[in-house]
Amino acid sequence: MSRIRSMAEYEKAHKESMDNQEKFWGDYAEQFTWHKKWDKVYSGDLNKLDYKWFEGAKLNMSENCLDRHLATKGDKTALIFEANDPKEDVKRYTYKELHHEVNKFANVLKDQGVKKGDIVTFYMGMVPELLIGIVACTRIGAIHSVVFGGFSAVALSDRMIDAESKILITNDGSYRGTKIIPLKETADEAVAKCPTVKSVIVCKRTGNDVNMASGRDVWYHDAYNKAADNCAPESMDSEDPLFILYTSGSTGKPKGQVHTTAGYMNWAKFTFENVFQVEENDMYWCTADIGWVTGHTYITYGPLLSGATTIMFEGVPTWPDAGRFWEVCDKHKVTHFYTAPTAIRALQAQGLEHVTKHSLATLKVLGTVGEPINEEAWEWYYKNIGKEKCPIADTWWQTETGGIMISNLAGVTPHKTSFATRPLPGVEPSLVDADGKEIKGNPADGNLCINRHWPGMTRGIWGDMDRFRQTYFTTYPGKYFTGDGAKRDENGLYRITGRVDDVINVSGHRIGTAEVEDALNQHEKVVESAVVGYPHEIKGAGIYAYVICTEKPADINAFKKELAQLVTKLIGPIARPDKIQMSSGLPKTRSGKIMRRILRKVAEGENDKLGDISTLLNPDVVAEIIEGAKKI
Ligand code: WT7
Repeated sequence: MSRIRSMAEYEKAHKESMDNQEKFWGDYAEQFTWHKKWDKVYSGDLNKLDYKWFEGAKLNMSENCLDRHLATKGDKTALIFEANDPKEDVKRYTYKELHHEVNKFANVLKDQGVKKGDIVTFYMGMVPELLIGIVACTRIGAIHSVVFGGFSAVALSDRMIDAESKILITNDGSYRGTKIIPLKETADEAVAKCPTVKSVIVCKRTGNDVNMASGRDVWYHDAYNKAADNCAPESMDSEDPLFILYTSGSTGKPKGQVHTTAGYMNWAKFTFENVFQVEENDMYWCTADIGWVTGHTYITYGPLLSGATTIMFEGVPTWPDAGRFWEVCDKHKVTHFYTAPTAIRALQAQGLEHVTKHSLATLKVLGTVGEPINEEAWEWYYKNIGKEKCPIADTWWQTETGGIMISNLAGVTPHKTSFATRPLPGVEPSLVDADGKEIKGNPADGNLCINRHWPGMTRGIWGDMDRFRQTYFTTYPGKYFTGDGAKRDENGLYRITGRVDDVINVSGHRIGTAEVEDALNQHEKVVESAVVGYPHEIKGAGIYAYVICTEKPADINAFKKELAQLVTKLIGPIARPDKIQMSSGLPKTRSGKIMRRILRKVAEGENDKLGDISTLLNPDVVAEIIEGAKKI
């Protein structure tokens, strides 16, 4: 099937994907390189959770990302690396060069004893070796697990232990604006707690002093120089795991979402080319970090599978000044720009002078992802960045979905302020009421579910299928429950309203309230805590923690600082509470359950919307909490 280029084609494609799923995806998959074709396009369902795509086929992901393009696009730029420091030289890799680097890295991994099916953890800055490294894993059939470089040693070791990872790839350090983040130091602390990790490969970036443990640590460039040039792509089964990626849920520790090879590959390419509509000579830039799923699907796999040029940016939006994004857009003649609402709001707050200095004339398409985009930010983005000529693709999806699920197709189906609009072909969304009944007709308001599986859907939680079923399939049996609320307007267009579970979207990053509570509770003076989200001008949602202590701390501010540092140490700076309120108790039901609804309303400042509190075990505490909140 060729690309969708009109509203009529979209409607036809969506209908076909619903009525004849087998033919739709079977036809699409023909374009890839297969060592063996599939026996069946798909099978299984959301009750048994036994769904599979392209069963029986054999293929290799890296071959489809790189080798497949060599004859026609070998000299086309595949990857552009824009460093943190604007004065540093830009690095460019053609498809041929990237192919070479991936082959080399694959051999480095093999030389370190990595085998098909092993899990390789990455804890790196945004440098080319991260992208090259994960694609190299797919060449030899190893499963990558990327841990965002902002996570703490504890968070990193938790993930390596859960995955039983034998090898870690890291940097000496990474640049972030004027700072150097000492990644190797944090990695050492993490590895000390992980008996399964036998080797650590260190890619040099910042040149800061690091400790190299003999017999365990190797420099990447040393290993690279010894490695052979060519590495034959391993023949993988369609349903072999491609990568795992940890993400937060409403309870417990982060879950390793498992994505498999053929289904994800189809989904990554299909969604990338249809949503963004990138043409042969376009310049595509997604500002995400490869530590998140956006960087997996829309910096790495989607663009490479499509033979596009992808830009990788190491720095931050506000250094050397708040015009950095726009400077990079002009420098590389960016045509497609994909970022998060939190970045848009942060830059909006810095004033227009940072924008108007730059031309932005090459831009054709804008994208947004990670959290609901408020109308003001949408309008600002549309007017000042897109100069009212670029469609904004508001792309709703999740780590679990592998790729974009609901979005307008840029310039093909219309956008609408703050609406993700229409489901992609293959996606059958539904809104469900509190009793689990599907709400038919428009307009509608409910919990967002997906009624059938699609190629890019997660295949489960690493090592914990019970939790997988429990988390996503018990609330509304037979449907995948996303955890988001949504509205459908009178024309059936979707607007995502945000999480309805105990997950907070802080700057587009998922933080489970339970994770933050667990961290706070580790402080010896903390008896109990409750964490909720509240509206935050820049971050979308901020973290608000209510804390009960054994005794009143002598210096409240110092104590709050200690708590914030504890959360940073145990999870990372992204989970650091924005507000901490000390309290003598928490509102509870008679069965002892914390009434988060009340805490949420107080944190939001909506004290008149608390509802009936008379049935609480301790109604008096509510007045204390309301009073306390005024002083925060
Ligand atoms: C959660 C998933 C998708 C890659 C980055 C985040 C929220 C995501 C949108 C959007 C409104 C959005 C949802 C979702 N979200 N995109 N366009 N509009 N909300 O992936 O960390 O797995 O988070 O992000 O709440 O459930 P993630």
